[in-house]
Amino acid sequence: MSTRDLKGLVLAGGKGTRLRPLTYTTAKQLVPVANKPILCYALDSLYQAGIRDIGIIISPETGEAVKGVATRWCPPDVHIQFILQDAPLGLAHAVKIARPYLGDSSFAMYLGDNLIQSELLTLVKGFKEDTADASILLKPVSNPEAFGIAELDGCERVVRLVEKPKHPKSNLALVGVYLFTPTIHHAIDSIQPSARGELEITDAIQYLLESGKTVKPYLIKGWWLDTGKKDDLLEANRIVLDAYCTDECKGSVDETSRIRGRAEIGANARIINSVIQGPVRIGDNCVIEDAYIGPYTSIGNGTIIRHTEIENSVLLENCRLLNIPDRIEQSLIGQECVITRAQGRPASTRFMLGDHSVLEIL
Ligand code: G1P
Repeated sequence: MSTRDLKGLVLAGGKGTRLRPLTYTTAKQLVPVANKPILCYALDSLYQAGIRDIGIIISPETGEAVKGVATRWCPPDVHIQFILQDAPLGLAHAVKIARPYLGDSSFAMYLGDNLIQSELLTLVKGFKEDTADASILLKPVSNPEAFGIAELDGCERVVRLVEKPKHPKSNLALVGVYLFTPTIHHAIDSIQPSARGELEITDAIQYLLESGKTVKPYLIKGWWLDTGKKDDLLEANRIVLDAYCTDECKGSVDETSRIRGRAEIGANARIINSVIQGPVRIGDNCVIEDAYIGPYTSIGNGTIIRHTEIENSVLLENCRLLNIPDRIEQSLIGQECVITRAQGRPASTRFMLGDHSVLEIL
């Protein structure tokens, strides 16, 4: 039995183009799921797996914001080191620049926009006791062309890995959580950038296979969410609320309001003459008045909702939703957005939307 002490490496750089316009002002890893930045789920997961030394890859654009969130998250027994990646040149490039930090340690690499149901502790324990050079997590998906894909033989051994294949031979996607020994560094030095100009971690693992190293596959049983796009993020919000939402009210609910199901209501939040149908999380200092908040909705701190119905949605901090005639559904709304119905004017719709906004009118 070896005693590998694993470090953690969390990737929180990149541009987040698939979540624009939110990612013009925030990192994709900081968009909240059930009112908590996605990044904190990755950090929690590493912590629960016993990892206390964590490197976080940051970008020049969003690095300071990531530092702020990670520093606030950091328990006293954890040491975090931030590592700046100047440009998004690939996951393997991120490992390359982290090498001085990683030294000759084995490590768990976690993509900061991925969420997995906690199985990491079991995996890390197994990896510490094993002789494998790397371990990959796999999950069947319906759109394998969007991921790195693993092909296994009849004995469940990994035979080939391909990044986003046009004609996938398997539906087993590489989940964004990997366990590596230091052998990965030589593999990264030996590969070339892919057609999209990035050093792909998938190619580095394929190199390990070709040089006779052992890559252990692990099919995860719980859920896995890659929150890179709006609908994936709403799905993540739904699953996390379903799994973890409790019944805790730190604010006030007046006599004419009704709470059905589980609802977490933040400090100083006021619920007035409204119906809340859980699971729902409402942040601190929110005001919900003459409104309906339907299932699977997360509302950020300081948001005001009046005379409006909303469900299945994620609202960031300090928004105002006032007097909307139609129910809002399946929506992802950024910080400080204002949506109101103009009073006393002829029926018309007026917008001020940021670049890359998406508005669907039914
Ligand atoms: C990356 C990896 C891919 C993996 C995916 C998981 O893709 O390159 O192999 O399946 O993360 O989220 P990207 O998000 O960079 O397109």
